[in-house]
Amino acid sequence: MCTGSIREGGGALEDIVSVTPIGEPRHKITVAFLREKKLQHQPITCLTAYDYPSARLVDEAAIDIVLVGDSLAMTMLGYADTLSVTVDEMLHHTKAVRRGVKHALLVADMPYGSYHVGADDALRNAARFIKESGAEAVKIEGGEKRADLIRRVIDAEIPVAGHIGLTPQSVNVMGGYKVQGKSLSEIEQLMRDAVALDRAGVAFLVLEGIPREVAAMITEEVATPTIGIGAGPDCDGQVLVFHDILNLTFTPPAKFVRRYGDAAALITDAVHAFQENVVSHQYPADSESYHLSKETQQALETVLERKRGMRR
Ligand code: KIV
Repeated sequence: MCTGSIREGGGALEDIVSVTPIGEPRHKITVAFLREKKLQHQPITCLTAYDYPSARLVDEAAIDIVLVGDSLAMTMLGYADTLSVTVDEMLHHTKAVRRGVKHALLVADMPYGSYHVGADDALRNAARFIKESGAEAVKIEGGEKRADLIRRVIDAEIPVAGHIGLTPQSVNVMGGYKVQGKSLSEIEQLMRDAVALDRAGVAFLVLEGIPREVAAMITEEVATPTIGIGAGPDCDGQVLVFHDILNLTFTPPAKFVRRYGDAAALITDAVHAFQENVVSHQYPADSESYHLSKETQQALETVLERKRGMRR
């Protein structure tokens, strides 16, 4: 437990843990800061971002964690699920997000297949996210059975976020996107998963698609911050998908999604207005056009007049 007099990372602890007043310069969010937030019962915020503009908007809105989720397979690339997105595709998006994020902790999802073949392969892929894309942590799905692998990645100086409950990369094993942890045996397994990852030293733990009561028990039990998605309000923080909160998914939202805006309507209206303006000759207006200077225009007139005279 830290006290106000302890110094970390060169700054006084109160500088690191205090909630930054509006208008004050923001601190860089670190894994240690997230732990302090849990201790101080300050909710942690996380949103996905997949490109430069969304990254800038999310970061500038003071969100703590920006996650380049493999959900980009669906939201950005139009795949049916997360399974086919590749390391190279994830790196491409993470690099763009890196350019837009200054303050938030930048976390990238390790996609399906990038850590399933062997530990050496997983380490190589995790290191690519750090070296090539500037991610500050990677996220790996799976509980107890991934604890040793996660320990190895952390030993290679790469912070790892865990992800248990409804893990979309296991969709074929789960037989669909179903709420997990509903029976006593499933709850026991989830607790074992959470404790194993906590002991392995995960930076934080995503709890997806589990009953509120189970998420609350896990949050109470582990030292690492829990970040819920469809896991109720008792987690240490919440994560949602950028496209979900803005109605950009083209699918009905899940129960836990709250829509904070309708970007689809905004974009559709703007695109229709442009289309109508062009076909009705209302765009561009003269004021939206470039013009010659008076002198050049007069000189051009003289040249054209001369040419017309020569043709006569
Ligand atoms: O890929 C993703 O967006 C995620 C979040 C839903 C946690 O993993």
